[in-house]
Amino acid sequence: MTTLASESPTPDGAAAEVLRRHAEDAFAAELAALAAQDDRPRPERWRLSPWAVATYLLGGELPDGTVISPKYIGPRRVVEVAVTTLATDRALLLLGVPGTAKTWVSEHLAAAISGDSTLLVQGTAGTPEEAVRYGWNYAQLLAQGPSRDALVPSPVMRAMADGKIARVEELTRIPADVQDSLITILSEKTLPIPELGAETQAVRGFNLIATANDRDRGVNDLSSALRRRFNTVVLPLPGSLEEEVDIVTRRVNQLGRSLDLPELPGGAEEIRRVVTVFRELRDGITADGRTKVKTPSGTLSTAEAISVVTNGLALAAHFGDGVLRAADVTTGIAGAVVRDPVADQAVWREYVEGVIRERDGWKDFYRAAREHSR
Ligand SMILES: Nc1ncnc2c1ncn2[C@@H]1O[C@H](COP(=O)(O)OP(=O)(O)O)[C@@H](O)[C@H]1O
Ligand SMILES: [Mg+2]
Repeated sequence: MTTLASESPTPDGAAAEVLRRHAEDAFAAELAALAAQDDRPRPERWRLSPWAVATYLLGGELPDGTVISPKYIGPRRVVEVAVTTLATDRALLLLGVPGTAKTWVSEHLAAAISGDSTLLVQGTAGTPEEAVRYGWNYAQLLAQGPSRDALVPSPVMRAMADGKIARVEELTRIPADVQDSLITILSEKTLPIPELGAETQAVRGFNLIATANDRDRGVNDLSSALRRRFNTVVLPLPGSLEEEVDIVTRRVNQLGRSLDLPELPGGAEEIRRVVTVFRELRDGITADGRTKVKTPSGTLSTAEAISVVTNGLALAAHFGDGVLRAADVTTGIAGAVVRDPVADQAVWREYVEGVIRERDGWKDFYRAAREHSR
């Protein structure tokens, strides 16, 4: 694919113009350091060994002292199984509730293995077969008839030809017949082009990562023929408060830097409170196990906690007094909790009055939260 010179990301600095850099650009230095010091065997066309890919995802320190930042915070085994799967002839299905880093992990795996996370198909109810196989440039098709030149390859087809990782987001939202066009690709490793009497055969290094949402189960459930082609890895919700606070803190710092937000005092305290509220409402019970609480309809994922805190930082930075305060995050929390204006509003009010009000050291938080619970 060609990009205009002015858009093409350069390794450092100049790419600061784009709003969000691809993982392989944002972490180019870490990937280069890993590649330089990685002396383990690499599967064909992999940029790194499976061990180095796992280190890139989980973080660590290299022999020369280079620090690799953790991208995914969670069980090491999950990452090891995911990476290993991609070195076999089965594809990888990342499954989990929303906000468990499925997309994030998929992007970083593709970046580390192929140096390219952009071979992406976004699954929706309207995803056509062309997005998975190939389409045609109609002007050329009419002028010259079917030819290789007139063919527009999908990201999956390009990954097959180049021996790279292709990504399919939200696989279970794709209509079943379109999903099934993946079966030949994954089992025969070929993509027939009947119009040309030809085919594109996958070369070594090709594999596919799909993500699917637990909550979509039953929407367009995978056919058993397709499911067999995948090894399923479930990404869990963070196991403990500490772990979730750690994830939110790291991501908020990264996002804050890219949005030029200052690091404000009060941040650590509010992150802990946001995560506590999210976990208690998600679990239906307070952290001390004493009080049952009703669960709202939203997912209250880690990803939502990250955006509540990031929005709070922006509010505090632009309109506050230089400290992140409870009022900067309670608006966002209420917005995440109250999806259904009637039922969720009642759940939120009950939680604010029944739990937050009584909690030591949470007076300011209670006063701010009360504003949105009426
Ligand atoms: N365990 C985790 N480790 C690191 N980041 C996480 C974790 N869980 C959630 N996140 C963050 O949450 C955000 C959203 O994740 P995403 O991949 O979009 O979720 P999903 O695709 O599962 O719905 C990402 O910015 C990611 O960094
Ligand atoms: Mg996703």
